Amino acid sequence: MITNRQVVLKRAPAAMPKAADFEAQSCAMPAGPPADGLLVRVIALSMDPYLGGRLRGRHMGEPAPVPGAKLPGFAVAEVMESAHPGFQPGDHVVTETGWCRYAAVPAAGARKVTPGLTPISAHLGVLGMPGLTAWAGVTQLAKVGPGDVFVVDAAAGAVGGTAGQIARNLGARAVGIAGGAMKAALVTETYGFDACVDYRTDGWQARLKAACGAGPTVHFENVGASVLQPIFPMLQNYARLVLCGLAEHYHSDGQPPVLPVGPIVGKRAAIYGLVVYDFYDRLNEWVALATPWIAEGRLIVHEDASEGLDSAPAQFERMLKGQHLGKAIVRVGPDRT
Ligand SMILES: NC(=O)c1ccc[n+]([C@@H]2O[C@H](COP(=O)([O-])OP(=O)(O)OC[C@H]3O[C@@H](n4cnc5c(N)ncnc54)[C@H](OP(=O)(O)O)[C@@H]3O)[C@@H](O)[C@H]2O)c1
Repeated sequence: MITNRQVVLKRAPAAMPKAADFEAQSCAMPAGPPADGLLVRVIALSMDPYLGGRLRGRHMGEPAPVPGAKLPGFAVAEVMESAHPGFQPGDHVVTETGWCRYAAVPAAGARKVTPGLTPISAHLGVLGMPGLTAWAGVTQLAKVGPGDVFVVDAAAGAVGGTAGQIARNLGARAVGIAGGAMKAALVTETYGFDACVDYRTDGWQARLKAACGAGPTVHFENVGASVLQPIFPMLQNYARLVLCGLAEHYHSDGQPPVLPVGPIVGKRAAIYGLVVYDFYDRLNEWVALATPWIAEGRLIVHEDASEGLDSAPAQFERMLKGQHLGKAIVRVGPDRT
């Protein structure tokens, strides 16, 4: 017999959400697909930094879930029953199921994905929202090309790792910044960046400067002020900065980060704020570019997976603390692709 489970919010998180703020419990199986919707089986759940902010009502105006509510979040899932002519049982979709094994979802929010060279869960990472974010920042905002010196932090993660690989494939020198020796090794040895600096070691700024030669022409920011401030003096004139994420500030109740206005003028720097929602209608363009790169081994999919829905709270806490390597996911059910 098929049984359903979900993870709910036990109490509103005070600051950084912790595994103990959540509870896995049995729940009713959806009776079937909603009108014009789908009944789906979750294969993998995406663990994304924005969810920490969302749980505290700090993400793009979305309300915080109330205690007792199922945790929100996107998943890759298999269609079991469809009440929509555009979907058939056996199709695979990325959709917001929340944290559960089985969900009834509107077809309008479901995006069909095709099994291919990668595990289907790659559509939550390199071939999904994080990969699209990287592509948009690198190619549409900073317009990276040959001769650029491209620097990105959180370089072992889904966004940073993909951004550096895209930049390198487009002819730039890719330099990563990452927290810890294992992450730095992943960035250079597996992702193939030209260099990576572990910012948890003394003298990282000097090593970054040396790795960048004349200085970065493009910097892609995922972390916040502690990285951005020391980067500024290293930038070449007319550098482009993509502000993508501020992971170190999401769970801090301190002052918001401040940009050094003087150096922006002195460097004649251009700054681009990036919101991936602006680029969702171009996801197919990114997947078409990424697919041959994956086949040629020039774009690596690296996942950090925990097993089973009940592991989601602990995996989420690990991800929020930056203890994962690559794209953090939870494998909920078998990938039969
Ligand atoms: N603008 C957009 O539309 C958009 C879309 C998707 C993602 N993002 C942002 O892009 C960034 C990367 O996303 P991702 O999914 O690839 O995540 P990720 O890089 O896998 O995880 C975030 C990383 O931030 C770093 N970090 C530094 N200080 C931290 C702190 N105090 N707390 C937590 N993490 C800290 C950690 O890497 P190190 O240990 O290497 O420092 C951590 O692994 C995030 O800021 C995310 O919010 C933005």
